[in-house]
Amino acid sequence: MQLSDFHYAPSPEADLGLDLARQLVDELAPDLIIVSGDLSRDGLLEQFVPVVEFLASFGMERVRAIPGNRDYLAGGPGPTRPADSDLNYFLEAPDMPGLERAVPEKHATPFLEFFDDVDVFERTKGLALVGLDSEPVIADEALRRGVAFLEASSPKLARVFCTHRSLLPVPRKKLKEGDILPNAGDILDTLMLAGVDLVLCAHLHRVHAWELCHEGRTMAVVNAPSLLDRSPGKEVGLLSFDIERRDQLRATFHSLAGQPPRTLVDTTERRKGRKRG
Ligand SMILES: [Fe+2]
Repeated sequence: MQLSDFHYAPSPEADLGLDLARQLVDELAPDLIIVSGDLSRDGLLEQFVPVVEFLASFGMERVRAIPGNRDYLAGGPGPTRPADSDLNYFLEAPDMPGLERAVPEKHATPFLEFFDDVDVFERTKGLALVGLDSEPVIADEALRRGVAFLEASSPKLARVFCTHRSLLPVPRKKLKEGDILPNAGDILDTLMLAGVDLVLCAHLHRVHAWELCHEGRTMAVVNAPSLLDRSPGKEVGLLSFDIERRDQLRATFHSLAGQPPRTLVDTTERRKGRKRG
């Protein structure tokens, strides 16, 4: 399941939205909840707390999250990761929340008060997942590290990549600077060559899915809706993904505004159709 773009700031409407979302998440009972950024409206600690409590109600062992642009304090120094040294990054990154608290450090985002890192590298029984912080961009070195992780994963695992800023335009959305990552073409090409099955992105507050084909393989690129943004012209809700096998994937949009669920991608039907044909 993908939840995104809460842009949470305390208000009765936002809390009602979280209650509605909680009911839907409980109904769908996902194995894994991927949060693709913009948990908060302005990157303030007090805006994170209710969102993290909401996520914790499902059990944090099911939750993986990356930050979005909104989650960095305006005018802050940016991500704490050195731009030019992976080694330093790995050596300096605390691996225990306790360590982080013991050595106070000025973070550009309260996100790191609640999550161990701004990137996610995870292998489960069914999938290999890489989530990369895209603020302000995904550096080549970060992408290289993510791809290496995916390529080193079992070929049986579905390969899933997640980032906050979008990688493709969506219909009915006039793009602004920063909506799509400047190196999106290179990122998509790299992911396709790395055998990625599913790309999750967000930021545009619009639901759309593209399927890209290369040498007989398909990579689905899905843009998530906002969970709470009910402004005109936007669909509000969340996405669920059923991944039976790498080539059997279904992505579904679930509205929080009363619309029926809508299938965005379904390669399971296509496979059955091929067999029948
Ligand atoms: Fe955003």
